[in-house]
Amino acid sequence: MKNPRFFKAGSVNKLSHCLGNLINIDLQPSKNIRPMMTQTEKQKLFEETKILTGFCAEDEANLIALSPIMKQHGNRLAEFFYDRLNRLETTKAIIEAKPGRSASLKVTLIAWFNNLFAGNYDLNYATNMMRIGQVHVAAQVDQRYVLSMYGMVFQFIISALESEFDGKVAEIEPLQNSVAKILSIDMAMMMESYFVELLDSTGWSMTLLKKMATVSVSKKLKTADNGK
Ligand code: HEM
Repeated sequence: MKNPRFFKAGSVNKLSHCLGNLINIDLQPSKNIRPMMTQTEKQKLFEETKILTGFCAEDEANLIALSPIMKQHGNRLAEFFYDRLNRLETTKAIIEAKPGRSASLKVTLIAWFNNLFAGNYDLNYATNMMRIGQVHVAAQVDQRYVLSMYGMVFQFIISALESEFDGKVAEIEPLQNSVAKILSIDMAMMMESYFVELLDSTGWSMTLLKKMATVSVSKKLKTADNGK
């Protein structure tokens, strides 16, 4: 099947309807175009990620305590970050696509980094992360690049903690765990934003897409099983 991106907007509803019949679910296309995510949905998503990562008051306190320390590492992180992105032709090309982008991205990255330790882990935090996700979708930055760079940021923070706390594992470990949790929450919000935006651009419903993916992946898995 063709990639949904290549269908004209007008044909999307008709297509959703046909697919709905094919996979035997009741789809009224006009009703199935998802409205923008509500604040309640965002809140639910955010709370779910907190529960699954085990993010608690102790983590908030750890991150807030790290704030003055980490502020001193922001500039260095930004240098590392964009040095790393410049090593890959595709990410380098994205950075260089607009004059002055590199300098402005360093400023926004440092602001994002400081916000990790600012202690405001509420709906505004979630909304901001989803907006940052949208900015990356608009700039056509593939998800895998963003996820890889989260790994890079985590390594950077661990090494900063090791030097700040003189390698004392007992002190570093709980702080490192809290950092891992907030980065996981961040990633989850960003990735959800990618998924929602890509889905919205097709005009398809979440139900339809998931059902289609289930059918398609199940077939693939069966074929893979048969090939054993
Ligand atoms: C840990 C992963 C990343 C984080 C936390 C991050 C953070 C940010 C932030 C905070 C912004 C500004 C959003 C705004 O308020 O407008 C931004 C924009 C942007 N980022 Fe990232 N980023 C990440 C990964 C990447 C990667 C891998 C690329 C690949 C080149 C990239 C390219 C961009 C671009 C092109 C923009 C938009 C700049 C513009 O509007 O001109 N980012 N990023």
